[in-house]
Amino acid sequence: MKRKLKNILVTGGAGFIGSNFIHYIFKNTSFCGKIINVDKLTYAGNLENLVEIENKYAGDRYFFEKADICNFDEIKKIFEKYDIDTVVNFAAESHVDRSIYGPKDFVQTNIMGTFNLLEVARENWKDREDVLFHHISTDEVYGSIEGGGYFYEDTAYKPNSPYSASKASSDHLVRAYNKTYGLPVTVSNCSNNYGPYQFPEKLIPLMILNILEEKNLPVYGDGKNIRDWLYVEDHCRAIWEILNKGEAGETYNIGGENEWENIKLVNFLCEKIGQLQGKGEDYYKSLITFVKDRPGHDRRYAINCDKIKRELGWSRQYNFEEGLDTTIKWYLNHQDWIDRVRSGEYKKWMERNYNLR
Ligand code: NAD
Ligand code: DAU
Repeated sequence: MKRKLKNILVTGGAGFIGSNFIHYIFKNTSFCGKIINVDKLTYAGNLENLVEIENKYAGDRYFFEKADICNFDEIKKIFEKYDIDTVVNFAAESHVDRSIYGPKDFVQTNIMGTFNLLEVARENWKDREDVLFHHISTDEVYGSIEGGGYFYEDTAYKPNSPYSASKASSDHLVRAYNKTYGLPVTVSNCSNNYGPYQFPEKLIPLMILNILEEKNLPVYGDGKNIRDWLYVEDHCRAIWEILNKGEAGETYNIGGENEWENIKLVNFLCEKIGQLQGKGEDYYKSLITFVKDRPGHDRRYAINCDKIKRELGWSRQYNFEEGLDTTIKWYLNHQDWIDRVRSGEYKKWMERNYNLR
């Protein structure tokens, strides 16, 4: 069955994956309804990511509303104003290191914000079945899997950081609203994303920028922690498949089947950029610096994504080299974006270009 999507509320649409998702819809699908991007614009929200969309579609098929998902009245107004029938909840505090040093915002946005959205949806949608609340989650809720084996959709949750605990908690609430109130929901748990517009606090963009500026490349602990990497557009396509064909009440794992030890990945980035810049494969490797480990650092994440492949016909289209090349070139070609993000100027840019409250 293909769902009829009309007015999609995208929360956190000014962030990394949310903005890629909005680009994906306009570029790659025949969707002709409305996208309403609701974002609080924390440090991670950057409307510059969506400038082409704004210029082409604003006021017609694309709308931006600055709002906090924790604010019931504002979200309710937006639901009613745009007659929302689909929610895609990206909005979150997303960085594990920040959650270690300041967990409060994570509990507030990730748990209370999701709860609030669910309440608005429950109140507005009553017994409607032609609606969907899709919640974006992470493989980190399953904890750390050492040695062999994979996370499946029914693997028990065992979160280890305040970030993953807050995401786990929100996933449970979403599930409970389906079981208790019959709210049509889907959840997806995805592995590490990389690609354009990622805030340079996360491993891949941080390393790319530090390599280009010949700064130290801080590798936590022994560098042998393993992550599974997926190009962001492949994640966006998976979400689109779920919105259209996913079954209410179901969870879908999404992954790249592409596990890398951090140290190997950082070496690989050094080699690729060394070649691109004509410096040779080994030039940047001397910048690698082992630093104090992240507390509670999960050793390995490994997603099994057979269910979404089998049931919805999704599979990743980018191999890692291709995705990394595109990503490195994107950062090389967007020096202005990088400068504004690094200097904080992007906040002033948004104030100048948008009538922000
Ligand atoms: P991000 O930090 O780049 O973006 C988050 C966005 O949410 C920002 O635009 C921010 O302004 C907005 N936001 C934060 N608090 C808000 C609030 N209270 N109200 C409204 N907007 C708010 O994050 P991302 O990497 O794009 O991740 C998006 C989602 O995907 C998150 O839910 C994250 O848990 C999940 N996820 C991320 C990855 C990854 O590798 N980045 C992998 C799997 C799942
Ligand atoms: O697995 C999905 C998750 O991936 C998402 O849910 C999170 O939102 C996203 O931030 C990401 O979490 P990680 O903690 O895995 O990503 P991060 O880029 O912070 O780190 C990736 C790995 O690299 C991790 O093992 C820690 C290590 N690392 C990270 C940084 C920033 C370093 O060694 N040095 C660094 O400077």
